[in-house]
Amino acid sequence: MGHKNHDWGVGKTPPVIRSHSLAKHRVLRGYLERYISVLTANPRLDQFRLTLVDGFAGGGIYLDARSKEERSGSPLIMLEAMDQAAEAAKASRLKPFHLDVQYIFVEKDAETIDYLRSVISKSKHAPLLADRIQLLQGEFTAKVPEITAFVKQRGRAERAIFVLDQFGYIDVPLPTIRNILATVDKAEVFMTFAVDFLIDYLSENEATQQTLAKIGITLPSKTIGTAKESRDWRRSIQLALHEQIRSQTAAKFYTPFFIRSEDSHRDFWLVHLSGHFRARDVMVGLHWKENRSFAHYGGSGLQMLGYDPKYDSDLTRQRMLPEFHFDQTARASSHEELLRQLPERIFPSKDGITFQSLFSSLTNECPVTAEIMKDVLNDLAKDGTIRVQDKQKLIIRRAGIRHDSDIILPNPQRRLFT
Ligand SMILES: C[S@@+](CC[C@H](N)C(=O)[O-])C[C@H]1O[C@@H](n2cnc3c(N)ncnc32)[C@H](O)[C@@H]1O
Repeated sequence: MGHKNHDWGVGKTPPVIRSHSLAKHRVLRGYLERYISVLTANPRLDQFRLTLVDGFAGGGIYLDARSKEERSGSPLIMLEAMDQAAEAAKASRLKPFHLDVQYIFVEKDAETIDYLRSVISKSKHAPLLADRIQLLQGEFTAKVPEITAFVKQRGRAERAIFVLDQFGYIDVPLPTIRNILATVDKAEVFMTFAVDFLIDYLSENEATQQTLAKIGITLPSKTIGTAKESRDWRRSIQLALHEQIRSQTAAKFYTPFFIRSEDSHRDFWLVHLSGHFRARDVMVGLHWKENRSFAHYGGSGLQMLGYDPKYDSDLTRQRMLPEFHFDQTARASSHEELLRQLPERIFPSKDGITFQSLFSSLTNECPVTAEIMKDVLNDLAKDGTIRVQDKQKLIIRRAGIRHDSDIILPNPQRRLFT
């Protein structure tokens, strides 16, 4: 991998954008706008500090072959999304609001970074080149220490979003992500991962082991061999790769989704990794909005992401589950499954569990938003399966969850009947 399939050069026509990249860009833009809107929802907040890092920036502009219009690449999308988010935050306040963003765009190729500089300097964002945008030429991994040090010296909040849009699977080693998440308190990472290309490449040989070691993946030759003998070997390897990405990056919250590329008929994953449940909630909320281009393996309810290795031995069941699309059908079936499954998770916590802890402990297993989970808990509260109280346990909330700190308790009488 690592081939160059986009070509930017000053004076040249920008490369044509593919529809799977448009889908990925819609998610990135939507995520950034939602992220600011969720984290600045408190109208008393008068400033918000964030660092946006594009580790594989590209040239900033594409051509849409159908409409012949120019389309923004990820660095421009970041700039535009922040403008939009700042406008929205200002519109909801009476007093001034300052969105304090620093941008770091890393690009290996010298011609491409020149192109990007010229695109920005011709745009309305040109003034930001003076003190808000850093253009760094070189390999992303080599720039990580400099970038994390920069984010940390900006202040205590340490909010940073890293967009790591590699071509293949080798340029973002998992230990690099682990290092970012461990060093920067509120870092989040979006990574593309060409999963099908990696799966096609895997063999039981030494070269494969060397490549996997570079990425930071442990997948012994024997495991690859055994997986290849199984009828559904592709999915079996995918399960192992999900588990490896999650464990080798040590990310608390992990949201993997596949994007199918029409031209190569290969899937790649867009993986979101973070240490905070709110970030994960913003991400999952977007997938429900963006249900045309995104789909999800597995069924609805808990344990449906399908990356849990205990499902390795149960692949037949996985195959029978319908694909999960983020539509009305998915929402209804998620609701129904959770109505059945959540009481089992709540009943062992005799002293109760806060909504925030319950959601955090389950969110990696199921792609529902906090809002969907609250709807289910509200139904369980109304039918008396659970009780909901405020955090001081002074008020009983018959209608269900109002705050993330609310405590959910099993209803002991109900237990007798279930
Ligand atoms: C898929 S394109 C990026 C597209 C861009 N993220 C967008 O969505 O508009 C990948 C870019 O990363 C650059 N690149 C490849 N390897 C790199 C590395 N190790 N570090 C930084 N940039 C790299 C390539 O030159 C190419 O311009």
